Amino acid sequence: MKKVTVVGAGNVGATVANVLAHEDLVKEIALVDIKGDLAKGKSLDSWQQAPIDHYSTILSGSDDYAITEGSDIVVITAGIPRKPGMTRDDLINTNAGIVGGVTESILKYSKNPIIIVVSNPLDTMTYVAFKKSGLPANKVIGMAGVLDTARYRAFLATALNVSPKDIQAVLMGGHGDTMVPLPRYTTVGGIPVSELIDKDTLNAIVDRTKGGGGELVALMGTSAWYAPGAAAAQMVSSIVRDENRILPCCVRMEGQYGLKDVFVGCPVKLGKNGVEQIIELKLDKDELALLHASADAVKETMDIYDRMV
Ligand code: NAI
Ligand code: 2OP
Repeated sequence: MKKVTVVGAGNVGATVANVLAHEDLVKEIALVDIKGDLAKGKSLDSWQQAPIDHYSTILSGSDDYAITEGSDIVVITAGIPRKPGMTRDDLINTNAGIVGGVTESILKYSKNPIIIVVSNPLDTMTYVAFKKSGLPANKVIGMAGVLDTARYRAFLATALNVSPKDIQAVLMGGHGDTMVPLPRYTTVGGIPVSELIDKDTLNAIVDRTKGGGGELVALMGTSAWYAPGAAAAQMVSSIVRDENRILPCCVRMEGQYGLKDVFVGCPVKLGKNGVEQIIELKLDKDELALLHASADAVKETMDIYDRMV
């Protein structure tokens, strides 16, 4: 794979492009934004970092989709972010129009790309890109779980005073307050987390993870970008390198976990074809009930979109 496009050169999009350039993975990264010369400026700035940080990936930017021609992977970050007091779902009207339009423009210049959606409300925007693109479900993937598990792992690392490198975790469900962190599948250096932390502290960390995005919106007046950008770049990297990493991603359920035609987060194998496999965990009754409640909440916003079009 040679070319990645990032749509939206704002906080998250510019970070995705910059992190990916540092990985020196692909020959070319195209950055697109409707805001005049913003994409041109950010890509030029990132390219001028190449001699300092030693990468060869060429970055270019424009407000014209022609520069996206022949992309293997497209990351969609276009849209408006949350302001304090807004939920992700408040963004649906504006962002559905933006993500739908972006998907159509992308498909004019790239025949069969893999699309990674970042725009919120994440699960429904992934559904929008799936519907508008007509691509198979393995090629339209949402980024949320990598970010949400990273937040969970970072909070645990602080509480346990250990390196975040050694914390592994799974999180499922939608990218919202109903997300389902799974302490039973959380390990620290191979040790089940329940052996290292008391229940109340763990529950408090799970709750903080669920509100992790809102915590940053309250602090900064807009949503986060460093960890979200790095999370989307990690998904691109697993696909380009055909690494088959197991990462929590938003994908279309086709009967797994008793769910059908709904986009929610679950662990998947990510390789050169996008989603190579949806992993089915043996969830217990309570975990499954939480996942279904989260899927129901996502389905409600997917239905709002269906009524809009
Ligand atoms: P931002 O406002 O910094 O950047 C968004 C960019 O999209 C702007 O530069 C804007 O001009 C551009 N844009 C708008 N319409 C466009 C169009 N039709 N074509 C091309 N570009 C267009 O926002 P930020 O912080 O980068 O967030 C972007 C989106 O990502 C938001 O919807 C936000 O909620 C979401 N997000 C999702 C996360 C996740 O975990 N899935 C995490 C963080 C943010
Ligand atoms: C986040 O979780 C707002 O979805 C965005 O940071």
